[in-house]
Amino acid sequence: MKIALLGFGTVGSGLPALIADNQEKLAALLDETISISKVLVRSEEKAAQLRQAGHPWDFVTSIEAILNDDTISIVVELMGRIEPAKTYISQALAAGKSVVTANKDLLALHGAELQKLAQKNKVALYYEAAVAGGIPILRTLANSFASDKVTRLLGIINGTSNFMLTKMMEEGWTYKKALETAQLLGYAESDPTNDVEGIDAVYKLALLSEFAFGMTISPSQIKHQGIPTIQQADVEIANQLGYVIKLVGEIVEVSSGIFAEVSPTFLPASHPLASVKGVMNAVYLDSIGMGASMFYGAGAGQNPTATSVLADIVRIVKRFKEQTLGKSFNEYKRATRLAESSE
Ligand code: NDP
Ligand code: HSE
Repeated sequence: MKIALLGFGTVGSGLPALIADNQEKLAALLDETISISKVLVRSEEKAAQLRQAGHPWDFVTSIEAILNDDTISIVVELMGRIEPAKTYISQALAAGKSVVTANKDLLALHGAELQKLAQKNKVALYYEAAVAGGIPILRTLANSFASDKVTRLLGIINGTSNFMLTKMMEEGWTYKKALETAQLLGYAESDPTNDVEGIDAVYKLALLSEFAFGMTISPSQIKHQGIPTIQQADVEIANQLGYVIKLVGEIVEVSSGIFAEVSPTFLPASHPLASVKGVMNAVYLDSIGMGASMFYGAGAGQNPTATSVLADIVRIVKRFKEQTLGKSFNEYKRATRLAESSE
């Protein structure tokens, strides 16, 4: 199964090593080898640098080289931002290629349109890594909560701001030092404005509302406030009174539908979300069937995010295999065995 990669930054450059590290397991699970063939980069200069550094893939600078390659079944978009990501993803779906992306900005703003295109072309568009990095929260909500009804969702869903607030509260770091370190560690977006202003969390909350409440909200309908206004005095008061300051995204069911907001919040130190520190994320749910539950894990960073991207690739390969069932009895037996072993 050949894959094309769009973007070779923090997450993109982590994916090939992850595929290599898991090659044996993946081959056993899928009876198929997953390999990256083409990688789209911005310029010939960058392509030459990467070739010189010994990377073995075919670095290209035009999307056509990928769209016109019939051996490529899956396109993985890890460039970020809206354009040209939206155009490239649309073109890939229209060309019959499945797409995996971690691009929450794009999905929150144009997800419905892209999903329609995927359905029309009978291909998959998966984006688990777009929300809460390595936590498989979208899949969990879609599958495990199908028989439940969520009434309230609270989330720490931006790793950069949670890392910064943790360092500012526990180690007295300045805002500037905390932000620079989050950037160095690959948690922040290339322009970190959305991270610190709560906009990244708004995009993720919009995606969560669909999976948790079955309701589409536009990011513009979500009130938000970020963390740049938090002062040392706020940190001291929170510490003295036994609270922690967290950037929390909340969706709650109200009589007219749902209400969603992202804001810095004083949480009592005893609240389960108060113990979510550093780059970790968590989604806390109240639901009719389960009662309270919390899903916790790394919210950003190369490896956790690439792991989530690879899990989506595996889902697509499995789906592809299921669709080709019945070709021969042996293939059918093999695929059934694989499906059983993956339960
Ligand atoms: P980076 O900025 O590190 O990487 C993006 C890469 O895409 C860069 O190498 C950039 O090249 C390249 N790129 C951008 N535009 C183009 C273009 N037009 N043609 C070719 N290449 C292009 O971002 P990340 O890897 O951190 O993030 C990628 C995606 O994953 C984003 O959507 C982000 O929101 C999402 N994400 C990131 C997480 C993280 O922890 N980092 C976690 C979860 C999701 P150049 O350097 O030349 O500009
Ligand atoms: N910049 C994002 C964050 C990456 O810090 O959470 C993960 O989506």
